Amino acid sequence: MKRLTEPKIICEVPGPKSQELLKLRAENVPIGVSGVVPTFIQRGEGALFEDVDGNVFLDFAGGLGVLNIGYSHPEVVEAVKQQCDKYFHSSINIVLYEQYVRLAEKLNQLVPGDFDKKTMFVNSGAEANENAIKIARKFTKRTEIIAFTGAFHGRTLMTMTLTSKVKPYKFGFGPFAPGVHRMLFPYCYRCPYGLKIESCEFHCAKQFEDFFLEQVAPEDIAAFILEPVQGEGGFVIPPDEFIVELRRVCDKYGILLIADEIQTGYCRTGKMFATQYWADKGVYADIVTSAKSMGAGLPISAVTARAEIIGAAQVGGIGGTYCGNPLASTAALKVIEVMEREFFAEKGQHIGKACMKRLKEMKEKHDIIGDIRGLGAMIAIELVKDRETKESAKDETNKIIAECYKNGLVILSAGVRGNVIRFLMPLVVTDKQLEIGLDILEKAIEMVNSELLALT
Ligand SMILES: Cc1ncc(COP(=O)(O)O)c(C=O)c1O
Repeated sequence: MKRLTEPKIICEVPGPKSQELLKLRAENVPIGVSGVVPTFIQRGEGALFEDVDGNVFLDFAGGLGVLNIGYSHPEVVEAVKQQCDKYFHSSINIVLYEQYVRLAEKLNQLVPGDFDKKTMFVNSGAEANENAIKIARKFTKRTEIIAFTGAFHGRTLMTMTLTSKVKPYKFGFGPFAPGVHRMLFPYCYRCPYGLKIESCEFHCAKQFEDFFLEQVAPEDIAAFILEPVQGEGGFVIPPDEFIVELRRVCDKYGILLIADEIQTGYCRTGKMFATQYWADKGVYADIVTSAKSMGAGLPISAVTARAEIIGAAQVGGIGGTYCGNPLASTAALKVIEVMEREFFAEKGQHIGKACMKRLKEMKEKHDIIGDIRGLGAMIAIELVKDRETKESAKDETNKIIAECYKNGLVILSAGVRGNVIRFLMPLVVTDKQLEIGLDILEKAIEMVNSELLALT
């Protein structure tokens, strides 16, 4: 089979085979299950995939942040194949298997914090967050949970409630779960207090006591939950000062801190976990949820917490039929082994630096780029119609995304306003592939930017 090394579009997207499948999809799959690129994959390798019509795409969406290790990593494929020959399933609640326990041991070592930890596994990011909330409530014997504006924590009832973006995630799906309150997230480019970073003196970090007076008593709060870098919210990075104050407030009132590392985990931000940046400031989460790139595409997620906290859940109270299933646990152990051995965290940092340099050059040339931000290889650009007013350029963002996939690059939008382009490329992407991808992106930006200028 021919190796996939560069994007190559041989027929208009969607090609004839994809068109046939799109028709079948329209007849059989509800529109609620969205899809960004109108094509069907036939195989993937590294940072690229080939569609059923023979077009080859560079994938900077990485299966929604799941493919940090790349498509079809040979060692992961081999480990899973070997496990397939032995058994698929036994259910950890019935007959135990070693890889579940070994994986828990590994995560307890890797998640930041020099204290005793324990880990349980579930199947998705949302499920991990659901369990984190259950555990926090059980341990603290409190009911209230604080989530943030811009947050995304999943699509189940509790996690949809925790999620902030209304459309498409919540609209018409209420009523929502009780006991959830929302606090303003420090989104420095669009400061919710209208302040400027140079002079704000981190006002965002001073909101807690007022919130406790006006919204909910701290003694009723079981946990704060937040993403170390907001994912769906548009790759928004809170200032260290906010995180340090949040931890101080948690300690003062006996509130737990839950870090949702579902998108940030597994080397995306240039560290195995983004909360390692918090640890540099002396901040540790009490509960960390992780998923996505953990299983290289096999569904698995984890809840890692201080041993006494997660130990509060009674026997049989957490888990489920498929949770941490043998194939996915095997894949996750191999993913972590490869990531540690091959310095994936450093790869994330390298990609981040290379992208930021190129994106900054693009910002100089194209006014539509309002902001560039990132941590490691978790990078985004925010597009605006006007740099002064910061009016969001949502339609233009969608145009750029469409123009990119027509030319062999898959990228994704994000942000409450839908005007952020985010990069979640596999960390195995080569320097040359990175350059090709950014060339495709720049051409698309150039085109849409000149259309925008022509209108003004
Ligand atoms: C930060 C974060 N939390 C939770 C989730 C939900 O994960 P899942 O879609 O696996 O339920 C996601 C998914 O995008 C996410 O990015």
